[in-house]
Amino acid sequence: MLTQKDTPYFDAMIKYVKDKVVPFHTPGHKQGGGTVKKFRDLIGEKALKLDLDIDDIENYDNALKSAQRLTAKAYGADNSFFLVNGSTGGIHTMLLATCNYGDEIIVPRNAHKSVMSGIIMAGAVPVFIPYQIDKELHVPFNVEPEDVERTIKEHPKAKVLIIASPTYYGLSTDTPEIVRIAHSYGKIILIDEAWGAHFKFHPDLPVSAMDAGADMCTNSTHKLLSGLTQSSMLHIQGNRVKKDRVKSMITLIQTTSPSCLLRASLDCTRMQMATEGKSLLTKAIRLAEKARNGINKIQGLRCHGKELVGKKGCYAMDPTRLIITAKELGYTGYDMEKILREKYKIKVEMADLFNIVAIVSIGDTEKRIDYFLSSLADFASKEKGNVQKIQQISKKYHNIIGSLNNVPQQLLIPHQALFSPQKAVTLARSVGGISAELIVSYPPGIPLLLPGEKISGEVIDYIKIGMNAGMKFTSAEDNSLKTIKVVID
Ligand SMILES: Cc1ncc(COP(=O)(O)O)c(C=O)c1O
Repeated sequence: MLTQKDTPYFDAMIKYVKDKVVPFHTPGHKQGGGTVKKFRDLIGEKALKLDLDIDDIENYDNALKSAQRLTAKAYGADNSFFLVNGSTGGIHTMLLATCNYGDEIIVPRNAHKSVMSGIIMAGAVPVFIPYQIDKELHVPFNVEPEDVERTIKEHPKAKVLIIASPTYYGLSTDTPEIVRIAHSYGKIILIDEAWGAHFKFHPDLPVSAMDAGADMCTNSTHKLLSGLTQSSMLHIQGNRVKKDRVKSMITLIQTTSPSCLLRASLDCTRMQMATEGKSLLTKAIRLAEKARNGINKIQGLRCHGKELVGKKGCYAMDPTRLIITAKELGYTGYDMEKILREKYKIKVEMADLFNIVAIVSIGDTEKRIDYFLSSLADFASKEKGNVQKIQQISKKYHNIIGSLNNVPQQLLIPHQALFSPQKAVTLARSVGGISAELIVSYPPGIPLLLPGEKISGEVIDYIKIGMNAGMKFTSAEDNSLKTIKVVID
């Protein structure tokens, strides 16, 4: 009988390599022999030997099933699936498995672009829950249960509801209450828990989606745990979602050659979390608090934390997330990100107009936190920003940030608009037209326009201010946004 200490999938891979099987199968590099030397020298022969795609032979199928069963147990799910295309793949699977073409789906406007692209692919019709915007931090917060309930009442035909908890900034909503509301109206509730793969394993972290009773959720195991990049998980519980439909949707969207290395890293991460997750996370939380306290002692810098909890849209916060602002020193988040990268060789997770966001994880050390703190202290004492410029941006942004929640009129369903005849026009000419593409401001990855929406002057103003401050735009054909594609009438 397997226990959480076992790693059946990884062990099957090791056995395959130890058996010295002669490979007449993919990948063509044949366990490293065909790779470029400098690549092989850096990556290492052992890793290349394990770069396999051999699910259909030997007893891999059983090993995978065993590893996924152990994962379901560790996460409190009925079934778990290993994914190799990030939470993006998990979110697409959840949406394709639960929505039919033309179905309404309830979703926060600030959902990640993977949610919006999944809705487009499924041909679903989004109806939006307003999310909270903190005008002090200029940061999108989460949704409030009362707004979820009101949206459900206004759209009784919607069968499915999807929320993200936590957000990219680590801010959770009251998921047990939202699950209760959704189920009381007979809705399926899906949770984008890309940033919460660790929640299940420490009592000081927000409640996990499975513990909150969600029907399905997806975790980016690669984001805050030790999974290799792209490795993620999908969990299901209860009988509202059909497991076989989920399985078939995974095969519909996922590669037919899933990387064994990615899957093995999921197997090992689950073992690590189930057996020593609490102590590893205790250390990560302590290091993050040390960083937060240290930053708050540096003049001109501010690192947000527990004081956010209880504000509208922040029911709980992941303490391992550091939201740092240098507004008082006269820097945008983008400026600060650039200086840290160029001068101190520090790369943070993301920057927005007024903040940088850094993550602290089970992989961090005391020494690294000390270096971060001494670099920030040096930055704050030596760099001279432009306070006036920040105040001007702040004022303009303050006036328009609320407009992000003003959902443009939806004239076509997103799927229809994306595949309609279309043409590129300048920003100025686009006002009044129907967007033929998804436009997302990045970070934090909030959609400004969905295909099918009427383009308003407000959105165009937001884009212009964001551009001046260094915001990036993704998902459009012309991401410089000199032009936007609109549907031809
Ligand atoms: C809230 C949220 N959901 C989903 C995703 C997609 O996750 P992945 O990169 O694992 O595909 C992200 C990625 O940043 C995210 O921030």
